[in-house]
Amino acid sequence: MKIPFVDLKSNFDQIKKEYLIRVDQILNDTSFIDGYYNRSFEDKFASLHDSKFGVSLSSGTAGNHMALRALNIGVGDEVILPANTFIATAWGITLCGATPVFVDVDPETFNIDSKQVEEKITSNTKAIIAVHLYGLPAKMDALLRVGKKYGIPIIEDAAQAHLAEFDSQKVGSFGKLSSFSFYPSKNLGAFGEAGAITTNSEELTLKIRKIINQGSESKYVHSELGTNYRLSHLIAASLDLKIPYLQEWTEARIRIANRYQNNLKDISNINFQKVPSNCKAVYHLFVVQTQNRSDLQKHLNEKGISTGIHYPIPIHLQSIFNGKQGDCPIAEKLAQQTLSLPIYPNLTDSEVDYVCDRIRDFSMNKNIEV
Ligand SMILES: Cc1ncc(COP(=O)(O)O)c(C=O)c1O
Repeated sequence: MKIPFVDLKSNFDQIKKEYLIRVDQILNDTSFIDGYYNRSFEDKFASLHDSKFGVSLSSGTAGNHMALRALNIGVGDEVILPANTFIATAWGITLCGATPVFVDVDPETFNIDSKQVEEKITSNTKAIIAVHLYGLPAKMDALLRVGKKYGIPIIEDAAQAHLAEFDSQKVGSFGKLSSFSFYPSKNLGAFGEAGAITTNSEELTLKIRKIINQGSESKYVHSELGTNYRLSHLIAASLDLKIPYLQEWTEARIRIANRYQNNLKDISNINFQKVPSNCKAVYHLFVVQTQNRSDLQKHLNEKGISTGIHYPIPIHLQSIFNGKQGDCPIAEKLAQQTLSLPIYPNLTDSEVDYVCDRIRDFSMNKNIEV
């Protein structure tokens, strides 16, 4: 059996006919930039995430950047973020000229350790970024409490967490601003690069619309340092088309994750990301933790199963930043021990069982301890 890590083709096949009708329509209209599907998608996506406003833009990385730009974060400012995330969480900070301040993660949820956040706050702290890693919401109540105590806004990096919930409220609605990615393999994946910001602030929405459109509200008048982070209409059309499927695809991911957990729960040397009872996780990734990661990955690969590592180097240890080994010990340990198993809506029960059986064979042979 061959099991890829992601399967974008079957997802495309599901909506190919409808999408090609939209492509034909857009090409005939020569409406290439920022068209009607952008507006339609933004409204639907924001309301799905309990938010008043949505702005589509060219990537999740652009979204992280714009969330901080909208708050005027710049040189001399510090922004707190978890060490265990994709590097793009940090780029927004660096692109604004601010300094990232890395905080270690909780060993059970793998998300930012809210208790350590307060210790890192200084008079220069201007924002805290909550990342909902692998689709599991960060501890939003605690982060919002800290933010309120010090008057510091919370930003959500919800790139991996479309439709995830904390206390029955959708992610993307807790922060002052939230950023989503629609990179093709994400839970809601575009036919190209794409991202969005959700917020309840009309003022910040208008500000971001202006910055991403060359700092301009009306043509050739530029009153703000701008850039071009607009989202192409053809790509927005793919996202708008996929919205009605998102709930069903999310439930499929949750079913698959539950099956993995049930099948693997008696294997003592495999740990999972713990999902607190007040959270709905949406499993962008299904990640296991084991001391014997490289051997397990090799074994699965030999059995036709592709896996991933998210992320092999915690971001404080990337050479562009100044972190040291030992600064964030849990993130460093997870970087050595986590392995992402295949997960996507069309993965079948028998494929999940096959992956689990191969993990079981491996663990019985190795008798390893976590
Ligand atoms: C946590 C996180 N933040 C930001 C991004 C950046 O999104 P994009 O690839 O759309 O720029 C990603 C994408 O992988 C991500 O996983």
